[in-house]
Amino acid sequence: MNLIPPLSADPSWLFVVDGYDPDREASVEAVLAIANGYVGTRAAVDEGGPHSRPATLIAGVFDTPALPQAPELESPVPELVVAPDWSRLRVLLGGGELRPAAADLRAMRRTLDMRQGLLLRRWRAGGVGLSSLRLASLGDRRALAQLVLVEPAADGEICLELSVDGQVTNANDTRHLAPVSCFPAAGGGVLVMRTIQSGYTIALASRAELVGPPPAGLRRELSFEAGRLTERISFSAQAGRAYLIHKLVALATSRDGADPAGMAAAHLADLRAGGVDRLLSDHIAAWAERWAGAGPEIPGDAEVQRQARFAVYHLIGAANPDDERASIGARALTGERYRGHVFWDTEIFAWPPLLYTHPASARALLMYRYHNLPGARAKAAAMGYAGALFPWESADTGEEVTPDSMLSGGARVPVLTGGEEHHIAADVAYAAAQYALATGDQAFRRGPGAAIMLDVARFWASRAEPDADGAFHIRRVIGPDEYHETVDDNAYTNGLAAWALRAAADLAEELGGAGAGEPARWRAVADGLVTGCDPASGLIEQFSGYHLLEPIDLGGHDTSIATVDARLGWYAMQRTRVLKQADALMLLILRWDSYPPAAHAANFAYYEPSTSHDSSLSLSFHALFAARLGRLDIAQAYLRRAALIDLDLGRRGHAGASDGVHIAAQGGIWQALALGFLGMRPAAEGLRFAPHVPAGWRSLTMPIAWRGSRLRVTAWPDGRVEATHEGGPPVRVALGANAAWSDCRL
Ligand code: BGC
Repeated sequence: MNLIPPLSADPSWLFVVDGYDPDREASVEAVLAIANGYVGTRAAVDEGGPHSRPATLIAGVFDTPALPQAPELESPVPELVVAPDWSRLRVLLGGGELRPAAADLRAMRRTLDMRQGLLLRRWRAGGVGLSSLRLASLGDRRALAQLVLVEPAADGEICLELSVDGQVTNANDTRHLAPVSCFPAAGGGVLVMRTIQSGYTIALASRAELVGPPPAGLRRELSFEAGRLTERISFSAQAGRAYLIHKLVALATSRDGADPAGMAAAHLADLRAGGVDRLLSDHIAAWAERWAGAGPEIPGDAEVQRQARFAVYHLIGAANPDDERASIGARALTGERYRGHVFWDTEIFAWPPLLYTHPASARALLMYRYHNLPGARAKAAAMGYAGALFPWESADTGEEVTPDSMLSGGARVPVLTGGEEHHIAADVAYAAAQYALATGDQAFRRGPGAAIMLDVARFWASRAEPDADGAFHIRRVIGPDEYHETVDDNAYTNGLAAWALRAAADLAEELGGAGAGEPARWRAVADGLVTGCDPASGLIEQFSGYHLLEPIDLGGHDTSIATVDARLGWYAMQRTRVLKQADALMLLILRWDSYPPAAHAANFAYYEPSTSHDSSLSLSFHALFAARLGRLDIAQAYLRRAALIDLDLGRRGHAGASDGVHIAAQGGIWQALALGFLGMRPAAEGLRFAPHVPAGWRSLTMPIAWRGSRLRVTAWPDGRVEATHEGGPPVRVALGANAAWSDCRL
């Protein structure tokens, strides 16, 4: 009997972590997490322990506690709720609980099979060999499975206790779940919990059973407690034999329908009828399909190959094409940092890889913004503006949920981003336009896309202030570089606002939908907006007065030891030119062809030395930028540093992965490969590729989805680039920086 399905034979698909290091455990849990866009589960050891932070997170299920949940907060904020732990396991031998000894933990191995979306753990306890395989199905997103294999070294009574534990809290100790009911169903049981303030119902239906010939004394008992469902399987085990338990779990919440408990129970019955093998094969097939459309290939560099796969693995696990009411939080479904809130990280960093590999996921994520337009309109109106201003931090309702204060260097400082970081409005519009360009989805473009674009333009037109000379200014903002607050004319904000105003004017003139005079006014504001760009050198001033700030020497700066704000203090830091992350460079990347090549190089030279990369969003876009400039040594160094944010498991605190994988950094890695090294430049005509592939990579191949077609594009270090058509209508491509357009067809 094939007890545990085989993992990929090719080690380049595997992520193996041996042993148990309390200092690294939280990062390991995040990095090896399994997720499918609906639900994610960290790779905590099944039996739990003092260093474990097990968490199952369900997209869109938020709750706001009655009181602030952290000392730095003045008022509480919604947070993604840690859902019941569905894979909790206790093993009892002769009545006593088996816990792995220190030596057992040293010998433990966890393997994430990124190709098949499987997490396998092998360990020993009290002479018993144990394996557990977990999956969050990609073929059926509300199904989870755990396979447990027990291999005793001596005869004896063994009892396995498999529970669904709803008595959990978030890492900050906040309890968000109250028990509703726990009852038998579908041969197993259903645990129903409710979020205390927001009132979401979460139901998990579970059934565990021993498969294969029944051993002597086999007993199965279920216990139904408030907040905990336990299935106990006990039997007389014989040395040298292997016993396999299959546990199937079906999940539903009140976000999915009116009767989540009934849905979960019925789903469990279906899963049982199909069996674990069916669930597994559908899951593996779903992953295979996604990899075929998403997997970068870098044959000459095993390290970058693995980093790229790691990025894509987590990006696939972050999004659910079937849910238009949830989006990707800053740490996706792998950790609790930023309380699961959605930032520009989604549209500008994590989303583009989905757009070019799985447009259906990209569409659903934009629909989340569309459905949340009422919240964005309310935010604009509350601030005295027209149109729609998306919240800087967004959760389930589309209202602004940015916390009011935070800790910086041990002191409580007010958080101004919620009131000032307005570029998010343009970021969402930019994504909407990119989606229309890349997919040709006219229904979206004319409907939800136009609604977003027009209301964002209305916001900017009311937000911009004219001066006596007829120029327009956007004052009192925070740009991407959050180390400077309440600045005027942030070039990124103004540049993207001008683009959004013109794009909306074009759209309104084509489709209607705007008031008389609106498009003309939008163009006038766009033309009048201060750009901060020196026409002679192409140098962009990040915001008005930036050039006058004190220069900063960042030699030796290491974010993982201390961020600049912690070193200098929040206010002293603001007097310097230090950047938290790419800012003007972000504008250049998004609007590359609107600037001459000299501007690209001049701004990179000016800003890069003052950038601390204290935000995880910065390194990958520097890799992208440097790759476009053809400065491959720098680009590769940045790419490596970007990958190490999550993959260096020894990093402490927020600088590492312990609170979740930095999904924006992972999206940035994909973008550095596709838009940097492969040199992809989407345009109205089609796709241009102007690659710069490092000599150490034999080649770089990436699958790209474009207007209903699939391409496979390969570039080589000598500058050659080739596109293979794999389905759909012909695609206009230009293979080379100055190459002519031609049709690529099957
Ligand atoms: C960055 C923001 C980002 C947020 C969430 C902050 O530290 O400055 O750009 O959106 O983290 O990742």
